Amino acid sequence: MAKYQRLMDEIQQQIEAGIWLPGTRLPSLRQQVAQQGLSLMTVLHAYELLESQGWIVSRPQSGYYVAPRALASAPLSVTISEQVDINDFVFDVLQATRDPAIVPFGSAFPDPALFPQRQLMRSLANVSHQLTPTDALHNLPPGNATLRQLLAQRYARQGITLSPDEIVITSGALEALNLSLQSLTEPGDYVVIEQPSFYGALQAIERLKLKALAIPVDAQNGIDLVQLEEALQRWPVKACWLMTTLHNPLGVTLSAERKQQLVALLARYQVPMIEDDVYAELWSGDTPPLPAKAWDRQGNVLHCGSFSKSLVAGFRVGWVAAGQHAQRIQRLQLMSTLSTSAPMQLALADFLATRRYDTHLKRLRQILAKRQQMVRQALLKVLPAQATLSEARGGYFLWVTLPDSINTTQLYQQALAQGISIAPGQLFSAGEQFSHCFRLNTAWPWDTRAEAAIETLGKLMAQGQTRAAS
Ligand SMILES: Cc1ncc(COP(=O)(O)O)c(C=O)c1O
Repeated sequence: MAKYQRLMDEIQQQIEAGIWLPGTRLPSLRQQVAQQGLSLMTVLHAYELLESQGWIVSRPQSGYYVAPRALASAPLSVTISEQVDINDFVFDVLQATRDPAIVPFGSAFPDPALFPQRQLMRSLANVSHQLTPTDALHNLPPGNATLRQLLAQRYARQGITLSPDEIVITSGALEALNLSLQSLTEPGDYVVIEQPSFYGALQAIERLKLKALAIPVDAQNGIDLVQLEEALQRWPVKACWLMTTLHNPLGVTLSAERKQQLVALLARYQVPMIEDDVYAELWSGDTPPLPAKAWDRQGNVLHCGSFSKSLVAGFRVGWVAAGQHAQRIQRLQLMSTLSTSAPMQLALADFLATRRYDTHLKRLRQILAKRQQMVRQALLKVLPAQATLSEARGGYFLWVTLPDSINTTQLYQQALAQGISIAPGQLFSAGEQFSHCFRLNTAWPWDTRAEAAIETLGKLMAQGQTRAAS
């Protein structure tokens, strides 16, 4: 982290902690130079930036003072997490969904039986016959050339023109997202995420020792653009990690207009956006939504996609259309995982070269929509009166908001004891804001076991409510 940045962070933290109250005079430039061992230019730069962000004000001939508005208590519902600590809990919940005896409502994966296993294995067999010892070298970062070209063609069909050279093939979207974040930040930097957000974003922030600014996401309209702009004005944000289509866990998709506004806003503040778009192919309705990347004219959006949710989870193949950032991401990949498995890349290139993927996607979308409908109807019969259910246009998650009195981490434990997993709200935030919510995966077969599990959940929720009332 740059020296001026470190000083800025320190002063911001001190203001937030109430060490410097609104209206008090901060140490002078010369005092800071002496205390911190920094140059006058560095201290001046930090103070000027703090002033431009509204933390402090300068008074001629007098010095710098904490701005009259107490930022820490401003009515802003952006949540700041200096240190994110979620890994252990995520690990426990993910472990619980692995047992086939458990009803997998808490899983993040779709039912693998929905994927074209036989065709994929045929593609794998095709390429394994032709695999040469040098293939490992030809498929090093940025990844298999044919696969990147096929992906560029899929973008082109959406009206998005990008060169195959801007695409880096990765081990699932998770690697694409992590490398993108790493390429844009240094430890201690501020990153905008959503509230609630995919727990992978929280884990990445924890691992890279970043600070999270969580902006509220509305289940109807998506991210709050006004609060996002306020955050961009107040903090030196280095990157945003956002989901604009089929948000996990809320299911919301931003309108085209709002995606356009979002891209323009971030371009104005020169903050790159990592667009997590792993559910892009699972839309329902007549028109596929475009990613925010479609409005990116400055190479400011790093668009991360994956085959894990729509074609095959186990191949672990994803990508990032990273524009000008592609080179740096490749270098980081070489230093970490080296490359995505060559046979898997080749098999996907073989599969995608035909129209089989689109035929499969059409069928997948229909089945997912039907299954979601069944679960929704069953849930509506058992939910407490004040509960609400998300209205996603596609994907396979339902987000359930229960009365505040019901704690879903407890519900998760009680359900698990009865052989049912759910994804408790606590997974999706560094704080406690969603401890009365849970995410439910609707992609698995709707059968008597699932039906009975929904009834059991209903009973547990009712008991939770009675307990809270007594
Ligand atoms: C929102 C979101 N982003 C990224 C990922 C990771 O995708 P992949 O399996 O391709 O690494 C997931 C998986 O659950 C996800 O839900």
